[in-house]
Amino acid sequence: MTEIEAINERHSVRNYKSEKIEAEKAELIRSKIEELNRESGLHLQFLESAEKTYNKLLNRTSGLNSAPSVIACVGKETDPDLDEKVGYYGEKLVLYAQTLGLNTCWAGIFSRKKIPVVLDPGDKLVISIAIGYGENQGQNHKSKTVDQISQAAGGRPDWFEKGVEMALLAPTAMNQQSFVIKLCEDGSVEFTDKGGFFSKVDLGIVKCHFEIGSGRKIEWT
Ligand SMILES: Cc1cc2nc3c(=O)[nH]c(=O)nc-3n(C[C@H](O)[C@H](O)[C@H](O)COP(=O)(O)O)c2cc1C
Repeated sequence: MTEIEAINERHSVRNYKSEKIEAEKAELIRSKIEELNRESGLHLQFLESAEKTYNKLLNRTSGLNSAPSVIACVGKETDPDLDEKVGYYGEKLVLYAQTLGLNTCWAGIFSRKKIPVVLDPGDKLVISIAIGYGENQGQNHKSKTVDQISQAAGGRPDWFEKGVEMALLAPTAMNQQSFVIKLCEDGSVEFTDKGGFFSKVDLGIVKCHFEIGSGRKIEWT
């Protein structure tokens, strides 16, 4: 499965089977995490047993039930781009999990006391991602239009359109899609976050999707 196919098939899944992720797949996830951590300087962690990270009371509003495993999204609290990097690299992992036949749900609401994460000095736990085998595959989210989330100074080349199309399929907190992607006259692309709950994490996720759709690498400044 390609990353584009994974984007098209991925939806947030909030109900999971109790079965554990098989050892071989867990190992693949761990090695993908090592690779992403090396590249980003993050400290993403695969926690095989989610224990009581998700409890029904906390998640009554969002409807996320327990998941067998969890990915803790951790990085240096001094990193000014921490939230955005978590979004970008966390989504790479989410899409990788999709290619392995697993389901996921980004979750800002979870128990920060009960998640079995290991924090080194200076580490900050930004957010969690529930992971496992879903009871279902989720569903398409309601979406803003291309015009609502993108602007172009001149024409709209194909690579830009494809990037925007994939960005609209990105998961965002409460499905807020609170971002704008602008194609400038000099051909550069600007991403703006219009604020909201975890909007910097959203922006990183959106950049990941745009990059895959457009085939153009995002430069981290
Ligand atoms: C940063 C972030 C935080 C989220 N937090 C939660 C959450 O706490 N509980 C939940 O059920 N879903 C959460 N979600 C999932 C969104 O509600 C979901 O991505 C959105 O509704 C779009 O649906 P889709 O992921 O199926 O495309 C979160 C998503 C993101 C990106």
